[in-house]
Amino acid sequence: CGIVGFTGNNYQSAPILLKGLQKLEYRGYDSAGLYVADEANGTDQLVKENGRVSELVKLVSEKNVKGTAGIAHTRWATHGVPSVANAHPHVSADGRFYLVHNGVIENYAELKQNYLSDVQFASNTDTEVAVQMIDKFVKEGETTVNALKKLIALMDRNSAYGFLLMDREEPERMYVAKQKSPLLIGIGSDFNVVTSDAVAMLDQTHDFIELHDGEIAIVDPDNVQLFAANGDAISREAFHLDIDATETDKGAYPFYMLKEIDEQPVVIRQLISRYLPKDGQPQIGEGIVKDMLAADRIYIVAAGTSYHAGLVGARLFERWAGIPTEVHVSSEFAYEQPLLSEKPFFIFLSQSGETADSREVLQNINAQGFKSLTLTNVEKSTLWREATYALPLLAGPEIAVASTKAYVAQVTLQAILAYALADREALNLDLEQELSKIAIAIQGIIDDKEQLQEVAEEMLVPAHHAFYIGRGVDSAVVLEAALKLKEISYVQTEGFAAGELKHGTLALIEEDTPVIAVMTQPRLAGLVRGNLAETQARGAKTYTIVTQAIAKPEDDFVLPDINELLTPLVSVVPAQLLAYYTSLGRGLDVDHPRNLAKSVTVQ
Ligand code: G6P
Repeated sequence: CGIVGFTGNNYQSAPILLKGLQKLEYRGYDSAGLYVADEANGTDQLVKENGRVSELVKLVSEKNVKGTAGIAHTRWATHGVPSVANAHPHVSADGRFYLVHNGVIENYAELKQNYLSDVQFASNTDTEVAVQMIDKFVKEGETTVNALKKLIALMDRNSAYGFLLMDREEPERMYVAKQKSPLLIGIGSDFNVVTSDAVAMLDQTHDFIELHDGEIAIVDPDNVQLFAANGDAISREAFHLDIDATETDKGAYPFYMLKEIDEQPVVIRQLISRYLPKDGQPQIGEGIVKDMLAADRIYIVAAGTSYHAGLVGARLFERWAGIPTEVHVSSEFAYEQPLLSEKPFFIFLSQSGETADSREVLQNINAQGFKSLTLTNVEKSTLWREATYALPLLAGPEIAVASTKAYVAQVTLQAILAYALADREALNLDLEQELSKIAIAIQGIIDDKEQLQEVAEEMLVPAHHAFYIGRGVDSAVVLEAALKLKEISYVQTEGFAAGELKHGTLALIEEDTPVIAVMTQPRLAGLVRGNLAETQARGAKTYTIVTQAIAKPEDDFVLPDINELLTPLVSVVPAQLLAYYTSLGRGLDVDHPRNLAKSVTVQ
């Protein structure tokens, strides 16, 4: 979900809020809404709509929405189906308090039963319980800020919230509170904003104050007051975010995903110039190298595409740096921590830096006193701040829900790290040169993408299900390839270690089932070809993505030869494009696959 709020002197807040919501849409798009306080006329406007932000924009334009302050939200449903009633902002029964909320209040049913048994509810969301509780406490004599504090104290400690609250009796003021879910306060000259993601408000300001867990803020047009969890007033400097607002525009591209695929060669070059600047010698900070070399095992923790990048990274740390490495899905590690080695070192991979499951693990391992490094695309994000060390992925804002350039950045940066830890003489590899070659190879695939469009249209657009297979490092890539395809085209796709196919999944192969093999490792190619033949014999329609050294005349898509462990950087690109064109060919919204959100701040 995404949150924005604005309060300013002599501004119209609604257009600013709507623009912000559009930038935040990648965080959820089941429904959207805004509340604008109309100070001059005392007429408030609460407008909510099911579906995309563009639907809300239409509805707002039909109404006369005016006012200098307001709050808005784009929702990714957790409790309650997507509907107008369940959309935010939620309002107290008497119409006084308006609340938008990211996160989950774990004990909301209990709170509702204990405190609000006589209140009529308009929705079945946890958020409405929160706003009705605030109203109740104010009616009992509390100030608004104390009512908010009281609510927070009653919430289950596992709850997550980014709250943005308005009281119609104070139409210029916003109340803010956060726990686990990210919120920033943006500072302007005669206005202030609140947002769950800086990207949404870059047209207004580049200066942000981060809010920490448990803190509360009161935001007026000319003033921001911050309070620690114990109620003490605190002050915190704003940080300046150096992102060009145009980086978050699609430009001439039909979809962000295509733009982001296109940016991958540039991302690799950025990483080279930042981390391998002088004679290709890695520059990543002495502390990181020292602590990683002192570790007896690396634990990579991540979710989704970042987890898949970790599967490649683990091979790099083991084979180049000689450090045993395990990769874990954060939502599992958080609640079932494996037995750790004596001197573990943790790497968190996260595009957003906000994934709640990963943060849960980071908090757990911080409590155990272990050291960690976050590789993230968002500087100052939660995982950035709370890890011992953090390095930026330098991929630029990634907006499409399906991650592409962040994956490439994560694999590249892990390669640089592994290289920094390795005995480079023995490794005998010029990483800078190899990565430059890779950037050129990716560019070549992008320039030649029409052939992939044809394949997607013929083979995947009509498919009900599909398989990607590979061995070795390709078995990691095919997981990412399958995820890309399924998440944006809704073709049910599985990525498989090719040798496992015969132990069950082969039963699913029918006439014309697409099976795509990724083969980049000479010593494994023969085996994969054998597995592919087994599917062909059962009617599968096959497609091969291979490196030059392995290629045979009958192969379909040939990649240039590069260092074996770095092939994922290149072999993933045709898979990204196949997914893109399948989604396009099916007439879907490539950037906004149903039911998904870019940044998942709930567990
Ligand atoms: C969501 C996104 C994925 C992403 C995953 C992990 O599910 O849709 O694209 O890979 O979260 O996110 P992170 O920001 O931690 O990399």
